[in-house]
Amino acid sequence: MTASLAKRPPGAAPDWTIPQAWNSYSAEEHAVWDKLYARQIELLKGRASAPFLRGLENLRMSRSGIPDFEELSDRLQKLTGWRVVAVPGLVPDEVFFEHLANRRFVAGRFIRKPDQLDYLEEPDVFHDLFGHVPLLSDPVFADYMQAYGLGGLRAITFHSLQKLARLYWYTVEFGLIREQSGLKLYGAGILSSFGESVFALESNSPNRILFDLERVMRTRYRIDDYQQSYFVIDSFKELLHQTADADFAPLYDRLEHLGDIAPDAVLASDQVLHRGLQNRVYSGTKG
Ligand code: PHE
Ligand code: FE
Repeated sequence: MTASLAKRPPGAAPDWTIPQAWNSYSAEEHAVWDKLYARQIELLKGRASAPFLRGLENLRMSRSGIPDFEELSDRLQKLTGWRVVAVPGLVPDEVFFEHLANRRFVAGRFIRKPDQLDYLEEPDVFHDLFGHVPLLSDPVFADYMQAYGLGGLRAITFHSLQKLARLYWYTVEFGLIREQSGLKLYGAGILSSFGESVFALESNSPNRILFDLERVMRTRYRIDDYQQSYFVIDSFKELLHQTADADFAPLYDRLEHLGDIAPDAVLASDQVLHRGLQNRVYSGTKG
């Protein structure tokens, strides 16, 4: 979302898609997937949101080898109409939004090396599939993602992408949800991370604040380490209602005149679930 390949690589289609070329993965690459999968599935019991765990089951997301995008897409399409397509890396914003607006989720085909299990700079196929795809099988979340794509195309014309991208960051990538049995994870950036899956829920370092649309769109975020603040929603329905059903034009106007908020700030107007001690030593490289 933040940076992208400057030019469409040779071999990529006009919409930037490439073949996944599932047959060309090595045994070692499949083994990396298996290792990550086994580790996360253990860790996420009791931590991931119910619809995410349901999605993993329903999609029969593989515990043996990197999933074949076509097979996975056929199962996903039956549930919510979404498909997964391969791209060579981060793509330009309008390409990304255009795919989302048409219920196509873009995913990298490459997988991290065995010595990068805990940290890598760019999203790989484990993050993109394991982190994002299960929730695309939830009908309400599926609608939210499509609406976000349409909203992105619109935000480009308002020059308000930076504000809208913060909404994606603090929901789709790093969101927490309050369920009957307590706080759970639904953000893909957390769900695919061994360290942050525990940190986001259990560390006393970060803030945990009830989601507020305008507040979130004003808040800067870190890309080099765990988040210093997480925002908590009560349901995907409510999130969808506040975003998809709203006209962001007046909001973008208002935000022009409001300053940014630091990633670790707590405001008097926040509904704070946990005020972070901010005692994590931020190193600039996760892990
Ligand atoms: N409704 C928003 C607009 O008017 C678009 C949007 C939808 C943004 C869903 C985020 C999520 O631009
Ligand atoms: Fe992601």
